[in-house]
Amino acid sequence: MSGFDNIASISVKKFHNNQTVSGPYPEALNSILGAEDMAEAQDEIRQWKDYEPTALYSLKAAADIAGVASISYKDEGTRFGLGSFKALGGAYGLLKLLQSELSRKTGQSVSFEDIRSGQYDSLMSEITAVTATDGNHGRSVAWGAKMFGCKCRIYIHSDVSQGRQRAMEALGAKVTRIAGNYDASVQRAATDAGENGWHVVSDTSYEGYKIIPKYVLAGYSVMMAEVIFQLKGAPKPTHVFLQGGVGGLASAVCTFLWQKYGADRPKIIVVEPDRAPCLIASAVAGKPMKVDVTEETIMAGLSCGEVSILSWEILGQGADGFMTIADSKVPNLMLYLAGGQQGDPKIVAGESAVAGLGGLLAAARNKPVASALGLNADSHILLIGTEGATDPELYQQIIDGVKQG
Ligand SMILES: Cc1ncc(COP(=O)(O)O)c(C=O)c1O
Repeated sequence: MSGFDNIASISVKKFHNNQTVSGPYPEALNSILGAEDMAEAQDEIRQWKDYEPTALYSLKAAADIAGVASISYKDEGTRFGLGSFKALGGAYGLLKLLQSELSRKTGQSVSFEDIRSGQYDSLMSEITAVTATDGNHGRSVAWGAKMFGCKCRIYIHSDVSQGRQRAMEALGAKVTRIAGNYDASVQRAATDAGENGWHVVSDTSYEGYKIIPKYVLAGYSVMMAEVIFQLKGAPKPTHVFLQGGVGGLASAVCTFLWQKYGADRPKIIVVEPDRAPCLIASAVAGKPMKVDVTEETIMAGLSCGEVSILSWEILGQGADGFMTIADSKVPNLMLYLAGGQQGDPKIVAGESAVAGLGGLLAAARNKPVASALGLNADSHILLIGTEGATDPELYQQIIDGVKQG
């Protein structure tokens, strides 16, 4: 079976979170991300032009390989034509920022409807949103800026692919490439915003910057509401293996499921590149940690050396385990999904979409880890395929490369 041997040989480091809190969603976390924030985002985003739920696939052959009862794979590759789940967060975070900025400027309470109707178009065109990105979040903000009519500046680091840069420019954003890594681009965006009166719309939260990232997380909840609807009548997930960059995705999914299922929530396992292990480092230290990303990972969207402090507050208490995965495993996982093994659907999964699947397969094959996580033939797994071919040229090169061995 194509790619099987390599997948079976996957190895990861693991860490069990000793600080996981059991019981219902803690009251204190409600101010970080509450049910109303998520409901408001869902109501709004479902009204956007071309909104359609993404597919939830059942991967039966992969479930057999992993020795679990089922794997549900949410394919975000078709989200709003932007190729990733990030489409939901950045654009919504931007809308919340615009709402607050227009309300401040006009002295009136501006609604989402007012913004969508174009009532404030001239004021809107004076606002500049800015963000740093390794591709997907910036594309979402650029798309939102085009939809709502404000200006957009994007900072990317030296290793962001040309294809991803072009995609953001095609949406009208002005893109600046800096020397240095993702964390340097975050700092530069914040500094330039301060000097120029621009507004930061970041998916990561740091000291003094916590409001917009919460709304970005709320935007991601659309995806989870769809999953719950799509799983109606099926057993609830017992485990979710999630890609980790700054921790935004994992914290949003964790919050959603914790609020829905309370003490009976699924286990949350975060899987990040071994070249950018800021989440596992934070889990080990018991507080947000920085790591130096000295070598870029193929998983471009996960190449983050600093956790989002807001997301860490949730994951520090809510995640059950943390793992890292090596770059060398990623192409085989992509090829495995592209091949549609034994009747499973053929899925285009980008470089940053497969770490969760890798983590699951590795955990399932490691007896102590599987037993600690309660992973067995009765387990129902949820994976989020967080992106499709967000850089189609790069995607094809990786697939061709691994096929040629
Ligand atoms: C495709 C993809 N998956 C997962 C992630 C991880 O999300 P987060 O940085 O919120 O942890 C990203 C982040 O950019 C991404 O682009």
